Amino acid sequence: MNFEPAQTPENPLLAEPDLTTPLQISLLPKNAQTKIEFSLILPTYQESKNIPAMVEKLTSLLDGRMPGKYELIVVDDNSPDRTWEVAQALMPEYPQLRVMRRQQERGLSTAVIRGWQAAKGEILGVIDADLQHPPEVLFQMLDAVDNGADLVLASRHIEGGGVSDWSFIRRVLSRGAQTLGLIVLPGVIGRVSDPMSGYFMVRREAIAGKTMNPLGYKILIETIGRGNIGPIAEVGYVFQERQAGESKVTWKQYVEYLGHLVRLRLDLWHFDRFWRYGLVGFSGVFVDMVVFYLLSDPSTLAWGLTRSKIIAAEAGIVNNFLWNDAWTFADMSGHQRGWRKRFKRLLKFNVICLAGVILNVLILNLLFNLLGINRYLANLIAIGIVTFWNFWLNLKLNWRVTEVNNK
Ligand code: GDD
Ligand code: MN
Repeated sequence: MNFEPAQTPENPLLAEPDLTTPLQISLLPKNAQTKIEFSLILPTYQESKNIPAMVEKLTSLLDGRMPGKYELIVVDDNSPDRTWEVAQALMPEYPQLRVMRRQQERGLSTAVIRGWQAAKGEILGVIDADLQHPPEVLFQMLDAVDNGADLVLASRHIEGGGVSDWSFIRRVLSRGAQTLGLIVLPGVIGRVSDPMSGYFMVRREAIAGKTMNPLGYKILIETIGRGNIGPIAEVGYVFQERQAGESKVTWKQYVEYLGHLVRLRLDLWHFDRFWRYGLVGFSGVFVDMVVFYLLSDPSTLAWGLTRSKIIAAEAGIVNNFLWNDAWTFADMSGHQRGWRKRFKRLLKFNVICLAGVILNVLILNLLFNLLGINRYLANLIAIGIVTFWNFWLNLKLNWRVTEVNNK
C-alpha cells in the first residue's frame, strides 16, 4: 500500500502514531507548558459533508466557555471522500483544530485512543462527527467533571435522553447488546445506563498507564473496563438524525462487540495470566516428583519420607516462583528489578504457597474424611481450590503490592 506524503506544510497533519506503541494514554509531563484543558476527539470515516458544520458548531460553543483552552482532534481513517483533507483546509480558520490521517490502522475505538494519545488536555472526550451527538450537552458534561466525576457520558436512556429516528430493529439490537453485556460484564456495563454511548469524556489520570485493547465501536466499555474509573456522571441527550452520509454500523460491529465482551471478560479475570500460572504449577508438580524420587527412592538416596517431601516441595515452589516471576507476572516484576526485591518476592511466594499446602491438607481432610469423597478426586479438588488461592494472593499481595510500593 503506497502512503501519500503529508500535505501542505502550513496545515501540518498530526503524525500517524507508531503502531508498535501500545494503546496506552500517559500522564502529561509535570512541566507540560500547555493551556489546553479539554481535548475532544472527532473520529471520522466519510464525513466530508458533516465536518465543516461540526467544527464550526463546536468552536462557537467552546469559544464561549473556554477560549484557547480546548482542542478538537479529527482522526480520519483515510476516508475515500478525503474527510481529512476537508478538515485540514479548516485549520487556518480554526487554530484549535488538529487533524490526523491514519493510513495504516482502522477502526472507531483505536481512532479515539490514538487521538487521546496525541491530545494535550487533562480531560479527554469523544463525540461523533456527524452531528448526531448534540454539542450543547458538552457544557453539562464539563460541569460534571468539574464537580468531581472521573467520567461523564451522554446517555440516551436517562431523563432528557432518547433516539430520534432509530428503527425498531436498531433499538432492539442496541438494548439486546446492552442486556448481554450486563450478563457478561455486570461490573462494567452495569455502571452506566447507556454503555453503547460513543459520546463521553474522561479524566486522563483515570486511564493513564492502562493498555487498551478494544475491538470495534465500543470505546466506552473499554474505558470503564480497563480504567481506574471512580465517580461516573450521566447527562441525558437525544440522538439526532444524520444530516449527511450514513451510519457505518453493520452486523460486523455487533459481532465485534461480542468478541470485545469476551476479551474484556477474560482479561478482567486475568485469564491469560491464570492459565500461565496453572501451567507453571504443573511444572512444579513435575519438579517436586523428580526431586522426591531422587531423594527418597530406595534405588537412589533413600532419605526419610518427610525430609525428602519438604525439600521436594520447596524445589517445586522455587521452580514455580522463577517461572512466574519471569513469565506469568513478568509485566509487573519488570518494574521491580534487583535481587533484594526478587528475594523478597520469593519469600512472600513461599509463605503464600506454604499456607496453600496447609489449606490443601485441610480441604483434603474435609472432603475425604467428612464428605467421604474419593481421596484422589478430593486431592484434585483441593489442588484446584488452592491454585486459585495462590494465584489471587500472589497477584494481589506479592507482585502487585511490590509494584505499588515501588512507585
Ligand atoms: N476514524 C474512524 N474509523 N471513525 C469512524 C469509523 C472508523 O472505522 N467508523 C465510524 N467512524 C466515525 C463516524 O465517522 C462517526 O463520526 C462516528 O464514528 C460514529 O459512526 P456512525 O457510523 O455514525 O455510528 P452511529 O451513528 O450508527 O452510532 C454512533 O452513536 C451510537 C450512540 O452513541 C456510534 O458512536 C455508536 O458507537 C454509538 O453507540
Ligand atoms: Mn452517526
